[in-house]
This record gives sequence, structure tokens and C-alpha cells, in this order.
Amino acid sequence: MDFAPRIVAWQRQHGRHDLPWQNTRDPYRIWLSEIMLQQTQVATVIPYYERFLQRFPDVAALAAAAQEDVMPYWAGLGYYARARNLHRCAQEIARDWNGRFPPSAEAIATLPGIGRSTAAAIAAFAYGERSPILDGNVKRVFTRHFGIAGDPAKREIEQRLWALADAQVEAAPGLDMAAYTQGLMDLGATLCTRGKPACDRCPVADTCVARREGRQAELPTPKARKAIPERETAMLVLQWRGAYLLQQRPEPGIWGGLWSLPEFDVAGDPGAASRALGLEPERHSALAAFSHTFTHYRLHVRPWWVEVRAASQVVGHPPSRWVAPDDLAATALPAPVKKLLLGLAQANAAHGTLF
Ligand code: ADE
Repeated sequence: MDFAPRIVAWQRQHGRHDLPWQNTRDPYRIWLSEIMLQQTQVATVIPYYERFLQRFPDVAALAAAAQEDVMPYWAGLGYYARARNLHRCAQEIARDWNGRFPPSAEAIATLPGIGRSTAAAIAAFAYGERSPILDGNVKRVFTRHFGIAGDPAKREIEQRLWALADAQVEAAPGLDMAAYTQGLMDLGATLCTRGKPACDRCPVADTCVARREGRQAELPTPKARKAIPERETAMLVLQWRGAYLLQQRPEPGIWGGLWSLPEFDVAGDPGAASRALGLEPERHSALAAFSHTFTHYRLHVRPWWVEVRAASQVVGHPPSRWVAPDDLAATALPAPVKKLLLGLAQANAAHGTLF
């Protein structure tokens, strides 16, 4: 049997069938899942997905919302450009497509932030369109199965992989595209994993070049790695009558639109940084440092707790507000800041101390 029909037969028997975005042909629901699942694990996505759909059940609801009303439903998922693009897409669909989701992969790929593979996945699941996907997992399956060496992010290799992806669909008339697309994703996520692939259970093991030649560990060829840059910042956990001072991060930029802690140079002093905001520090102490890795750099954070006297005026831009511990959960905070503040609020409640 050819490659694609074996993937379909395997998916029907061993693939995933009960994910919340399966068993629907609603392109809005499928689109939302595909965007949330970019760079994010299924288990993380599920609760976000359900909350988002409850608040924004269709394209019209999302398009009608203000972007700042959308961000809280994304806070903690990371890669916030995805949420901003999602909102822009909804507005474009409302304006240019009469509120109807575009009808083909080609049309979907013209929307902001939607690449060829994501557009193909949506069209395959929603419309059964015969357009192949090629995401990171599928690149791994294909480089191994067809024995393609070279960095798959390089143009030339990527083009070969797209040609192979097209050829598998071409060779299989009448293919169930939803099952095939899901099967490729499931195979990449569950059997053809980066370390220790489970070749003994793989439906295409007997035609796999990497398996035949024992090259599973070499393929896909890893990227020539550049060291990721490191940055440092100090953060102020300013506390007044139990509440924390948060500032809205500017857009565009890291955590744009989310509410985060004021920052200052690590060479600076937390007392002076507080006074620069127009606040009078009472006492301060260092909190445990932590790191957060973004796509392009690693950020080392040194947080300082500062208790302030009287909530005098907080000077200048960006927009700032005092947030009570009970309101943190409903605020659009970056995940590491949320973790820090909820930890402090919990310690407060447990020990009755300020922090
Ligand atoms: N990752 C990207 N799309 C997915 C899907 N439809 N199901 C499971 N994981 C995915």
C-alpha cells in the first residue's frame, strides 16, 4: 500500500479521536485550535480553547471584541502575536469575506499570520481539501521516511519536503484528508518522536529509509545552533495595602498588551526605581531570581519586593494600576509574572505577612 492510505488506516485504529476540536467541520473552531496548537502542547491548549470558545463562540463575536478583551483569554499561552493575528484575521473575515471563513487553503493563507501548512490543515479538516500539511512534526516524519538529510528549515530542503508532501496526496485518489492530516500529526506526536521513535508500532516502518539504515537519531538534521542571547532585567513587585502595581506592556513587543511588573536596570537600585515612579519605598527585599526563554533570547529576572507608603500618584506612561491579589487570576499577566505574584499572594495568605 502507498504511504498515505497506511497513515489513514493507522489513524482510524490508533490515532486521537476525542480532542475538543475534532468531530467538527466548523472552520472557526478548527482554525482556533490550529493557532493555539502552534508551539503549544495539546494538554496546555485544551482549557484555553474551551474558555476562548465560551467567550467568543464564532468569528462575528471575535471580530466584534476589542483586542484588549481578547488578550486575557490568551494570557499564559505565550507567543502573543498569535492572539493579535487571530483577532486581526477575524476582523478581516468580517470585513472582506462577509463573515464567512475563506473557502480554500489558498484563500486562508492570505490571512494575517497563517502560513501554508496551517491553512492546509484548516482546509483539510473543515472542507476535506486535498492540500498537504508540512509542520515541524511532519517534517520529522518525512525526513526520516524518505531519508532527506539537511536542515528542514532551509529553503531547498523545505521545497523537497513540500514536493514529497504533494506527491503522497497525488498518489492517493479518494484519500480521507481529515484522517490523513490528523494521522500525520498523531504519528509525529506519538510514535515518530524526536528521541526514541517507536518504529515497531509505525505503520510505514517497512518503507522508512531512516529505519532501514538506522539513521533515526540523525534525521532530521539538526539546525546549526547559534547560542541564544541572554538578557537581564530587574522587576519591581510594588505592594501597597496588599495590592500589586502592574503596568501594561507596550505593543509591539514582548508581552505586548499584557499587564506586567515595572522593570529597571539590574545595576540600579529598587528604592530609586520606586521613587522614579513617584512612590515612597518603606522597605524592600530581594526575591528569588528566575529565567524565561523566549524564541530569540533568554531573560533572567531579578525581582524585588518593595512595600510602599501611601499610593501616591504613579507617574507617566505606560498605563498602570494597583491589582488586589484576588484579582490576579482574572488579569492578563505573562505566565512567569503570574506564577511569581500568585506564589507571593499565597505566602501572604498563609503567613499573614506582606509579600
Ligand atoms: N497540533 C496541531 N494541530 C493539531 C491537531 N489537530 N491535533 C493535535 N495536535 C495538533
